[in-house]
Amino acid sequence: MYKVCIAGIGPGALSYITPAALEAVKKADILVGGKRNLEIFQDLKKETYEFKSSMEELFLFVEKGRRTRKVCVVVSGDPGFYSLLDFFLKKLGPEALEVIPGISSFQYLFAKLAKPWKDFSLCSLHGRTTGIKEKLLKTGGVFLLTDRNNHPGVIADYLISQGLEKYIITVGENLSYPDERILSGRPHEIKQYRFSDLCVVVIEKDVMEL
Ligand SMILES: C[S@@+](CC[C@H](N)C(=O)[O-])C[C@H]1O[C@@H](n2cnc3c(N)ncnc32)[C@H](O)[C@@H]1O
Repeated sequence: MYKVCIAGIGPGALSYITPAALEAVKKADILVGGKRNLEIFQDLKKETYEFKSSMEELFLFVEKGRRTRKVCVVVSGDPGFYSLLDFFLKKLGPEALEVIPGISSFQYLFAKLAKPWKDFSLCSLHGRTTGIKEKLLKTGGVFLLTDRNNHPGVIADYLISQGLEKYIITVGENLSYPDERILSGRPHEIKQYRFSDLCVVVIEKDVMEL
């Protein structure tokens, strides 16, 4: 029985994959992951299992596979930040796992902005917009993972509805890819743009207002 390797592969571009994650990927017999994360390793011609939506099917495949082969689950960013680590930890416990850290989308975006992230609250919006206002009032700002339903436009509308028009939203779209776009503006400005499904958002006070 092999340990299951969960490797964080960063925001997406090959240049942001750590040598340790690349080595784990190369050593694996099977790569498991979402389409975007598997595509990067196409040239290695590995056997792959594309994760679509059923967590139970994913688990059964990994659990069966690891009896005879080295399985590496490739996840975006870091495995410990709103990723599959929670799921496999609950199912298998820490002894069955080898976790390789990766560069998270939040680390990448804050680095691009040359901004320290220690005073920001790091959150995910997957499924909900509640609690942002409280976090904004308590901390230096908020970083959010977004999804198709909770996209930057929804966040902008939420801030306007809460009377927080003076905050600045920065959207990091398709980070590290050739079509990367990083845009900042007040909520009413950000509302006017259309973004892809792959975005993260930073909300903070406008320094010009201080
Ligand atoms: C399931 S979460 C995984 C987060 C990941 N573990 C991390 O550390 O960044 C997926 C979300 O991460 C964000 N994300 C990941 N890669 C991204 C990229 N290249 N550009 C923009 N957002 C990205 C998006 O908000 C996406 O919906």
